[in-house]
Amino acid sequence: MTGFAWPAERAAFIAALPKAELHLHIEGSLEPEMMFALAQRGGVELAFESVDAIRAAYEFSNLQDFLDIYYQGMAVLRCEQDFYDLTAAYLARAEVDNVRHVEIFFDPQGHTARGVMFADVVGGIAGALADAKARGISSRLIMCFLRHLSEADAQATLDEALPFLHLIHGVGLDSSELGHPPDKFARVFARARALGLKILAHAGEEGPPDYVWQALDVLGVDRIDHGNRALEDEALVQRIVANGLTLTVCPLSNLKLCVVPDLVQHPLRRMLQAGLCATVNSDDPAYFGGYVNANFIAVADALDLTRDEIITLARNSFTGSFLEPSEQAPHLADIAALG
Ligand code: ADE
Ligand code: ZN
Repeated sequence: MTGFAWPAERAAFIAALPKAELHLHIEGSLEPEMMFALAQRGGVELAFESVDAIRAAYEFSNLQDFLDIYYQGMAVLRCEQDFYDLTAAYLARAEVDNVRHVEIFFDPQGHTARGVMFADVVGGIAGALADAKARGISSRLIMCFLRHLSEADAQATLDEALPFLHLIHGVGLDSSELGHPPDKFARVFARARALGLKILAHAGEEGPPDYVWQALDVLGVDRIDHGNRALEDEALVQRIVANGLTLTVCPLSNLKLCVVPDLVQHPLRRMLQAGLCATVNSDDPAYFGGYVNANFIAVADALDLTRDEIITLARNSFTGSFLEPSEQAPHLADIAALG
């Protein structure tokens, strides 16, 4: 018994709920239309002839297939205005989905390696976030280290970030998971923590439960991105529950990257039943076919999620955020009023 007469009612309920998005790579919100427009504006040669050709290339068998195209796509981002426009477009789209708070990842090494100035990347993103704040959308910015690169490269990136730490709330770990365990980055994360930054890591997306253990025990994460494969280890699940850590789960990403063969087999309900604080997020929406409401609706339809489960997911998005409890409270009250 779901409490919903038909899926359209559930979709409308999801749309009306206030939500926070906690797992969003800003470079993964680059829609093909904007990719083309920015390529023209900056005189960048694209490997694709049309928007349709770009979309047709978005067929992935695993994370690496996607990353190969993702790093190509971000080559059109070159100046501060490009990063501002990209972020402003994402925020406008998130607002349509009734997203009230966003915690945005960015990948500076994907840009500085091409000669783009760190200040232009952060300046453009932070400028758009500041403008959205005036419209009532709050945010936190999280800098990710690319795990296929060396720890020395991550350390140099943290050095570059030092003048901008008033704009950066935390550090994360993303890119190719297999073969690049969290403990490769033990020292740079220890340094980030000492600087007062929150600690996050993608773990258990494709990588084994041991990588999630390392994220906990070696990096000391405040939140786990994905975490799907944690379910393979009961003691690990108990540990995550005991530590009260949130998982930022990304259903359409998991489907597109073949982490799950079908959304009917998605572990989201099992995570909730195990007592895990799971949330629903879009990851790289321009590549995976949907923003946050589309993710909620797709997984809710596949698993026939109940009204209570959907409310829990919306609540978790705020309680799992880095907002202060006093900042979470009005959003939680708004959710309660709809429940
Ligand atoms: N970078 C952008 N999206 C990612 C994902 N889903 N996993 C790892 N790195 C990423
Ligand atoms: Zn991600």
